Amino acid sequence: DDLLAEGQVAGKRVFVRADLNVPLSDGTITDDGRIRAAVPTITRLADAGAKVIVASHLGRPKGAPDPQFSLAPVAARLGELLGTDVAFASDTVGDSAAATVAGLADGQVALLENLRFNPGETVKDDAERGAFADQLAALADSYVGDGFGAVHRKHASVYDLPARLPHAAGGLIATEVGVLKKLTEDVKRPYAVVLGGSKVSDKLGVIDHLLEKADRILVGGGMVFTFLKAQGHEVGKSLLQEDQLPVVTEYLARAEAKGVEFVLPVDVVGATEFPDLKTKAPSSPATAPVDSIPADMIGLDIGPESRKLFAAKLADAATVFWNGPMGVFEHPDYADGTRAVAQALIDSPAFTVVGGGDSAAAVRILGFDENAFGHISTGGGASLEYLEGKTLPGLAALEG
Ligand code: 3PG
Repeated sequence: DDLLAEGQVAGKRVFVRADLNVPLSDGTITDDGRIRAAVPTITRLADAGAKVIVASHLGRPKGAPDPQFSLAPVAARLGELLGTDVAFASDTVGDSAAATVAGLADGQVALLENLRFNPGETVKDDAERGAFADQLAALADSYVGDGFGAVHRKHASVYDLPARLPHAAGGLIATEVGVLKKLTEDVKRPYAVVLGGSKVSDKLGVIDHLLEKADRILVGGGMVFTFLKAQGHEVGKSLLQEDQLPVVTEYLARAEAKGVEFVLPVDVVGATEFPDLKTKAPSSPATAPVDSIPADMIGLDIGPESRKLFAAKLADAATVFWNGPMGVFEHPDYADGTRAVAQALIDSPAFTVVGGGDSAAAVRILGFDENAFGHISTGGGASLEYLEGKTLPGLAALEG
């Protein structure tokens, strides 16, 4: 894109909306994948002589400063990865941001504090969001949208700001969209989709859409207990969304009518208490077939027979999309299901895409080589909404 050409940005202030929303534990970054993914565009702009102003959200603070959601640790890590100091502004707008930007020499990089510390970033009211976007626009000469993970949010920095400045898509967004297109246009079959994560309510839209597109849908994670219950199984003390039973029942029936195969676990691993994810102290896992889950069991992972079943269902796929862990992978007693799916993707000759902040982090935290997968998306909700065929505000704004 012309805007990213060297001559266009030298000496200019370029606002880069990235998605640096990384998982933190007591202020320590547990997976820096999203920061690493942001580096190429930032480096390209800095090398071209731009004054690079990077901005992101982190977590879901409530429109006011909240130290646990500070981007300060991210600024430090970004500096390490860039091999240069990153100036950190303690606010997104106001004196600190203005002074930080004014202090940038050509080729230098600044990171602004969490955009969501300001209520104008996320507010529904167009005028209030626009007023915040006006303040952001005053900081920069042009805008590069590269926060793929946030393009499904109609937020000031994602949606309103590009309308106020010359704008372009960065390399990360271009790559992500290119990969996801392969899953929506002329997908190579069999097309298998693995869905996990805790809440089925977060996945209804994508399941609805996949019933028209996929050949096989494999389900694990906390959301699977609503499916198992819909099939008539007792699920003990496992996570269950009772209010979603009618829609899940309808999906199972529709899949059967359309010849889409739903693959559900045949056994689960669980315990009577939720494991301690901080200390990771050994727990007492037990395995149960899905037709005899004990009344006091909390299901926490798919079981050994299910791992074999899932691997077999992925072995001959030509395309695989995976979103959401199969269990509570943060605890070693319940990581085997997620590990088995990751390994099955690696072993399969299929074009494999891992989408979703959690599953992408899981494969790295479990020690898999990222390059063994076709693509690891930085988008969670964004990649799901893209697959649903929705218009994503952050992509639409860059096209306008
Ligand atoms: C994500 O983690 O999916 C993105 O960073 C968006 O975060 P959000 O769901 O809090 O808007």
